[in-house]
Amino acid sequence: MLKELKQIVVDAEKAFAEAADERAVEDARVAFLGRKGRLTLATGGMKTLDPSDRPAAGKALNEAKKKLAALLEEAKKRVAESGAKAKSAGIDVTLPGRQRRLGAKHPVTAMIDDCVAIFRRLGFIVAEGPELESVFNNFDALNTPSDHPSRDPRDTFYLADGRLLRTQTSPVQIRVMMSQKPPVRIVAPGRCFRRDTPDATHSMNFHQIEGLYVDRDVSLADLKSVLEAFAREMFGEKAAIRMRPHFFPFTEPSVECDFTCVMCAGKGCSICKNSGWLEIAGAGMVDPAVLEAVGYDPEEWTGFAFGMGIERLAMIKHGVSDIRYFYENDIRFLRQFR
Ligand code: DAH
Repeated sequence: MLKELKQIVVDAEKAFAEAADERAVEDARVAFLGRKGRLTLATGGMKTLDPSDRPAAGKALNEAKKKLAALLEEAKKRVAESGAKAKSAGIDVTLPGRQRRLGAKHPVTAMIDDCVAIFRRLGFIVAEGPELESVFNNFDALNTPSDHPSRDPRDTFYLADGRLLRTQTSPVQIRVMMSQKPPVRIVAPGRCFRRDTPDATHSMNFHQIEGLYVDRDVSLADLKSVLEAFAREMFGEKAAIRMRPHFFPFTEPSVECDFTCVMCAGKGCSICKNSGWLEIAGAGMVDPAVLEAVGYDPEEWTGFAFGMGIERLAMIKHGVSDIRYFYENDIRFLRQFR
């Protein structure tokens, strides 16, 4: 009996020391101190002992009980402490890994990049101008009459110092021509501002891409071929263009350029109002008055210019029905353009 108790204590020491978590400690408790545990069974063995041996056995039994109770407490404490340590270190190896979502270009930025890539292949380089412009660059040098409605403060944002938020990317034409000699072949993408009431197709803040090509003997046919090449690259081989007479102060003649409707491939649908065409670009031959304003000799140099709305291109390309989606930064909208 005494020998067996000794063995139980030795085994229990080992079992509790090896228990690494709450569960293992509980298993060890049941194995030694439970109702059918080894110590409990040994207690039952008392009955079979000679009465004279019982006092010594009883004492040894009590000591073994105390020892095991102490081992249990110690193991519980140890396991609890190491669990707390792991928690405070923020380590939970069972958690799934954290996903890092990849960002993507905003659809307006992506459209600007796509346009620029196409025009670069056609020999254009990128020019830039500021969003805060002079009245001269935005209107005067662009041959805009002093009573033209677009100059009205109800249409254009003016600053107290007389400057304005550019209403178009066309002033970049002026900046480029005033800073270099011809020939010129640039595109200028950028942000524009107008006092428009926001709706599905208007925003006070939008983007355009401007094109300007000045050289000897540039003709309307050159303009047509550039816009046609652009239409095909942007919307596919079957895209065609057509030009309609129009008016802009800075071009003569001026045209409005339509692209084949991408929704119905020219058959006619609700998007193109059954015409089969979508209005995309304003364009024309640079007015001699503009060339004169920047110091180019209109007898020697001719050029074409065009301007397109970036958001409009993106809406057509992606089937977006409302321009305001581009500015709300709703992640569910933006995610579609990854
Ligand atoms: N600036 C014009 C606009 O905002 C667009 C435009 C038309 C630009 C004709 C041009 C052009 O360069 O030649 O509506």
